[in-house]
Amino acid sequence: MKLLKSFTWKKQKSIEEIPKYPKISCKTLFTFLFYDLKFKKVIFMVEKTILVEKKKEMKEEIVDKKLLEKASQKLEEKRDEKVIVLKVEEKVEEKKQLNKEISIEELPGVGAATAEKLREAGFDSMLSIAVASPGELTEIAGLTEATARKIINTARHKMDMGFVSGNELLEKRRNIGKISTSSKAFDALLMGGIETNGITEVYGEFGSSKTQIGHQLAVNAQLPKEQGGVEGMVCYIDSEGTARPERIKSMAESLKLDPIKILNNIKFIRAFNSDHQMLIINKIEDLIKNEKLPIKLVVVDSLMSHFRSEYVGRGTLSDRQQKLNKHMHDLLKLAETYNLAVYLTNQVMANPAIFFGDPTTPVGGNIVAHASSVRIYVRKGKKGTRVARVIDAPHIPDSECAFRITEEGIRDIE
Ligand SMILES: Nc1ncnc2c1ncn2[C@@H]1O[C@H](COP(=O)(O)OP(=O)(O)OP(=O)(O)O)[C@@H](O)[C@H]1O
Ligand SMILES: [Mg+2]
Repeated sequence: MKLLKSFTWKKQKSIEEIPKYPKISCKTLFTFLFYDLKFKKVIFMVEKTILVEKKKEMKEEIVDKKLLEKASQKLEEKRDEKVIVLKVEEKVEEKKQLNKEISIEELPGVGAATAEKLREAGFDSMLSIAVASPGELTEIAGLTEATARKIINTARHKMDMGFVSGNELLEKRRNIGKISTSSKAFDALLMGGIETNGITEVYGEFGSSKTQIGHQLAVNAQLPKEQGGVEGMVCYIDSEGTARPERIKSMAESLKLDPIKILNNIKFIRAFNSDHQMLIINKIEDLIKNEKLPIKLVVVDSLMSHFRSEYVGRGTLSDRQQKLNKHMHDLLKLAETYNLAVYLTNQVMANPAIFFGDPTTPVGGNIVAHASSVRIYVRKGKKGTRVARVIDAPHIPDSECAFRITEEGIRDIE
């Protein structure tokens, strides 16, 4: 308004009458008004922008707070989980210590010489003596049957038998790794692959793919977990002379892996007879314990060929089964102590007692059957395919799948 007044007074042409107000042209006035309006608008816009920004910040703060709360909650949960795991591990370690601390010399009637004899025969812990039969100890350590019984009973009393709660067992099962077979159908049949902490036995007639599966597992065991491996080294016991590094090489190359590295991580050993085969298992323990090799898969191809050829005739059967029993227990102990997978191949024999269906039965009898956690029967299918059937597994229903053997390794049927 003041500016308007000054504009009217300028028209009167009397400078004295308008002493208080400055002279201003119409153009300037409009420009000024225009700028004034624009300025207000700009200020309004700026204020609005500031308000929006503030609102945004507040919103972000709320979101941030929520995220932070969620993250800290998750962290707490994980911390709790870790505490449980640590507690379980501590307990397991305590139990191990307890079993280790009691030496076999503490048993009644076991002097230094007897202890030495027992150790040489593999009875080096309370557990091994507690589960032995009096006959075994009399034969090996030259004890009388009464002393052997006394020793066994005391060992059973002294040792912690290793009861674990369901939760502890569940925790142990969580650490079990699975090795892929490179066939999705076969992996699905096995619920993920062959498991560590146990023995998987595959039996079938010649050419059914037992050795090929062993080769594939030796490659895949080295893969990271996300790719179906357990990131470990492999020990391959070859009793038939059928291990082929060139097959491993082409399987590794097809998975875009460095064949030199893959072959380097597989320790091949030819077993010359059943005693040698059994000795190798003790050596593997040495490699893990003393040389700190992260062995996560032991392949025995095949389990029975030496035992079968060395013990011919009915009279030798009980000797063979006794030795085989020890061998299977050594393998199971290795698998459970070091959480590694044992893959065994087994031969079949014709069973005349079976009239319907496939009359082939794995050799080795109940001893092999009981020690194996999972038993799979492989046979030749139509058009060069192979069929795998789960025969006996505690967590897998009896079912079958088909796969094929290619130059690249074990694969699905397209
Ligand atoms: N490079 C390859 N490409 C494709 N298939 C192959 C290749 N190498 C082997 N095979 C297949 O694998 C079969 C042999 O399988 P494998 O040696 O695993 O049998 P097996 O069950 O171990 O028999 P055995 O009881 O005689 O030891 C051959 O018959 C062949 O069909
Ligand atoms: Mg073979």
